[in-house]
Amino acid sequence: MTVKTKVTDKILLTTDDKKKAAAEAAIDKYVQSGMKIGLGHGSTAHHFVRSLGKKFKGDKSLVCVPTSKATAEIAKEVGLNVSNLNENPYLDFTFDGTDEIDPDFRLIKGGGGALLYEKIVATSSKFVLIIADESKLVPKLGKFPLPVEVIPFGVRATAWKLERVFQANNMQPKMAVRGKDGKPFVTDAGNFIIDCECGEINDPGRLELMINNLVGVVHCGLFINVSGIALIGTTNGVEELRRG
Ligand code: A5P
Repeated sequence: MTVKTKVTDKILLTTDDKKKAAAEAAIDKYVQSGMKIGLGHGSTAHHFVRSLGKKFKGDKSLVCVPTSKATAEIAKEVGLNVSNLNENPYLDFTFDGTDEIDPDFRLIKGGGGALLYEKIVATSSKFVLIIADESKLVPKLGKFPLPVEVIPFGVRATAWKLERVFQANNMQPKMAVRGKDGKPFVTDAGNFIIDCECGEINDPGRLELMINNLVGVVHCGLFINVSGIALIGTTNGVEELRRG
């Protein structure tokens, strides 16, 4: 069961306005001096970081742990106190975007290529708050290609094993190593990403376990039982969704 509450009711017309409004609502409602927070990656999370800088520039008591090099750069630029997980292994909150979120708060993440560090930071946080525009709400995960972060060594062999896992789940996704400028895209951790066009995923929990169990796979972009709260920017304002 999901509990839905209206947070703001300003009309929001563009996707970017919806992302920005969700990010600002998250700051107003949940961020206080003295907290230790994780900062996600992607356009919505970057709106969050820029708005956070406007409110907490120079506040040393707000400790911020970024999930990517790009997020760290923005956070420093806007005057936030940037730290890391080794100095602060337990965080109060992480604020991050998503590529898809289903009614059980299961997510597909990694469209921006930062899924591994996002998952490490998220699972080191007491609460993970998802900020997104309404297009990310889906009845079932899988329309967005599922990113799987893999070790570059033997990537074709890992892709073959991955294919077998999908077959065991009656799935035949189109799979491709993510590219950038004619070369494989390399994550901040030095790995490759295989994007898998799955179509509807019937059992995301089982699929996550099976994929993550493969040698060569570092982690996949399914985030199960990681978050139970989301702020969603919609045409009619920002709504909060909570797992009941
Ligand atoms: C980054 O790796 C992703 O997990 C992002 O959270 C996701 O791609 C959302 O991106 P936008 O906020 O840009 O839509």
